[in-house]
Amino acid sequence: MNKKIALTGIKPTGDPHIGNYFGAIKPALQLAEQYETRYFIADYHALNQTRDPEVLREQIYEIAAAWLACGLDPEHNLIYKQSAVPQTFELSTILLAFTPKGLMNRAHAYKAMVQSNTEQNRDPDDGVNMGLFTYPVLMSADILLFDADVVPVGSDQQQHIEMATDIAEVINRNYNKEVLKVPQGLIHKDTGIIIGLDGRKMSKSYNNTIPIFLPEKKLRKLIMKIVTNSQTIEEPKDPDKCNIFSLFKLFADQQQQNEMRKRYLAGGLGWGHAKQALFEIINETITPFREEYNRLMADKGHIDAILEKGSAQARELAEQKLVMLRKEVGVL
Ligand code: TRP
Repeated sequence: MNKKIALTGIKPTGDPHIGNYFGAIKPALQLAEQYETRYFIADYHALNQTRDPEVLREQIYEIAAAWLACGLDPEHNLIYKQSAVPQTFELSTILLAFTPKGLMNRAHAYKAMVQSNTEQNRDPDDGVNMGLFTYPVLMSADILLFDADVVPVGSDQQQHIEMATDIAEVINRNYNKEVLKVPQGLIHKDTGIIIGLDGRKMSKSYNNTIPIFLPEKKLRKLIMKIVTNSQTIEEPKDPDKCNIFSLFKLFADQQQQNEMRKRYLAGGLGWGHAKQALFEIINETITPFREEYNRLMADKGHIDAILEKGSAQARELAEQKLVMLRKEVGVL
């Protein structure tokens, strides 16, 4: 039986951190057991923000190397670059013809910009480019081009998936058949919020992240900065109210967690000791990832080759879909 298709786009936005790894990368990679998986680097989406070509180029390599180093196996998963599949942009043009402007007016990212402009007495559309405004259409094209059954994303992307669904349904109704597969969001649960250095959710906007590929010394220095309370070494401590332990749990197996829990409750474990233990377990886990990441970043030709091989495959699939669509809409 054919497996269902899971597809997701990865925006190239520098330095992935531990929150990205446990919140997005790992769950997306695990889907490969159940689904036929397709991952792509959403480089033209990034052009809306990143205008410096050197920066964009570097970020594309970084995100590709990051996913590959974290275990994306290009032999068993399709990985490609959005920009290398021009059919995406042709489909986007088709979708635009069916997308009510009002639907785009309701997109969260656009609405937030309009609201902040209005509050600051600026023109409502100040700083809004058409790439941002039509972002949900391009994202719909990414998804609908490859007949995705499910789209694993964070909850911030849920609205975009619903828009893709809406647009696909409008088109299917117009042609009176299932021209486009109607996708479903697979929203990563926020139950396991990853805590950052300051105890808030780990996020670039809070500047409290632990990047995955930091060199060992910098990693240790960062972990020593985790905010704790002023309990003394002797005092017994509550592991369930501790930022250090919440990170430790992500990396430790059950037995390691039980042992650390006992040390917390027994007293005599200082915050410095807990941080050292956390550093050691993180470092042990990510050292092979870091080594692979550095190896890939030192051989960008190899990354190019992987992406081009996947992109060639993606173009073939996309062209089949477009031949059907061109006939369906009547340009062929
Ligand atoms: N918008 C997504 C994000 O910001 C990235 C993305 C682009 C995407 N196209 C996609 C995700 C298609 C899933 C499917 O994270």
